[in-house]
Amino acid sequence: MSAPPPPAAAAIAARYHGPAPRVALILGSGLGALADAVAAPTVIAYDDLPGFPRPTVEGHGGRLVLGRIGRSDVAVLAGRGHFYEHGRADIMAPAIDTIAALGCRTLILTNAAGSLRPAIGPGAAVLISDHINLALPGPLVGSTGNDRFVDLVDAYDPGLRRRLGATARRLGLDLPEGVYMLFPGPNFETPAEIRAARLLGADLVGMSTVPEVVLARRRGLTVAALSVVTNLGAGMVAGGLSHADTLSRSATGAALVQRLLTALLDEETPL
Ligand code: HPA
Repeated sequence: MSAPPPPAAAAIAARYHGPAPRVALILGSGLGALADAVAAPTVIAYDDLPGFPRPTVEGHGGRLVLGRIGRSDVAVLAGRGHFYEHGRADIMAPAIDTIAALGCRTLILTNAAGSLRPAIGPGAAVLISDHINLALPGPLVGSTGNDRFVDLVDAYDPGLRRRLGATARRLGLDLPEGVYMLFPGPNFETPAEIRAARLLGADLVGMSTVPEVVLARRRGLTVAALSVVTNLGAGMVAGGLSHADTLSRSATGAALVQRLLTALLDEETPL
């Protein structure tokens, strides 16, 4: 926490004069609508924020939205950089360090994912309980200092998961938990890789989120992550996978995640 202030923090201070955000959200494919739910928004394009990624994927915006959702002061990152775009696992480090420096204490990540459980199909939302990364070097390779040895036990905060589960029950929403396995992308997995992932204990596969969780835990943020299921894993149903499918099938799950997070951020007990 003795890290020097990230360069983007000064750019934000020049344009945002509201209360310090306490909760940051990173929005995955198809979840951009949550950024539009921010009241009294200050919108800053990633282009104007030094170190922030320049997204290259259609359907991923690139803007930071500061303001309020419900009773919470939030920083919403609409758009993320992926390893598969830049070849760097630490592409989100400046963005994560910036939200920590702004005062955020909690980070909630969302993503689109493939499901390995036939009963949890396209349109479902899943709360991530843990992850498996056998695919990529960690985002802290090459960094120095003892804070690089990040502990990942309970990285997906049990208390915040219980709270999200309670909010989901209150709203009558189904919110199973599952283990997310990272694949490097941008190609989808082979059917053999999906069978291997199931054997290893994964419930979900995706191409993001894991590096951000490590970077956020380094800064001491309390983390939760939600997947919107867009498809079953490769080979689990007849036919192939396409990016167009993963975008079009995400609407139901995205609406569910949006309801859940909007309700959570409006609860009386602050996060
Ligand atoms: N695999 C990896 N990433 C994904 C998938 C998938 O099947 N669906 C959405 N993102």
